[in-house]
Amino acid sequence: MKKKVAVFRKEHFNAAHRLHNAEWSDEINAKVFGKCNNPNYHGHNYNLDVKLVGEIDPKTGYVIDMKVLSDIIKEHVLDVFDHKNLNLDVPHFKELNPTAENIVVVIHELLEKAINKPELELTVRLYETERNYVEYPA
Ligand code: NI
Repeated sequence: MKKKVAVFRKEHFNAAHRLHNAEWSDEINAKVFGKCNNPNYHGHNYNLDVKLVGEIDPKTGYVIDMKVLSDIIKEHVLDVFDHKNLNLDVPHFKELNPTAENIVVVIHELLEKAINKPELELTVRLYETERNYVEYPA
């Protein structure tokens, strides 16, 4: 059996959001989401770790060409999320609350589709702050 190697790419984007559940009253939203329910939005400096696990391709010596990975992340995540208002500008969050948990799942879906290599195992970690971060799949 061939050895599997994990490769990682770190990225960064800035975005604004508001946590809000339209089915709840303003009072309940304020109670549940606190400052994150601010009607005028607030921003985060998000850090993203993309991890791929797979076998080394004997021809290239790579698990994946990191330039290719970096271009995919730029096109499918950074160009979509960076300097955007997630609630207003990113269609995925028209109905979905842009919590770190929901954002990481959306990013995983976008990247999995774009990378299109089912033999590679993709994990995405998203830092909303230095101390608060999420990972998908768990
Ligand atoms: Ni927030």
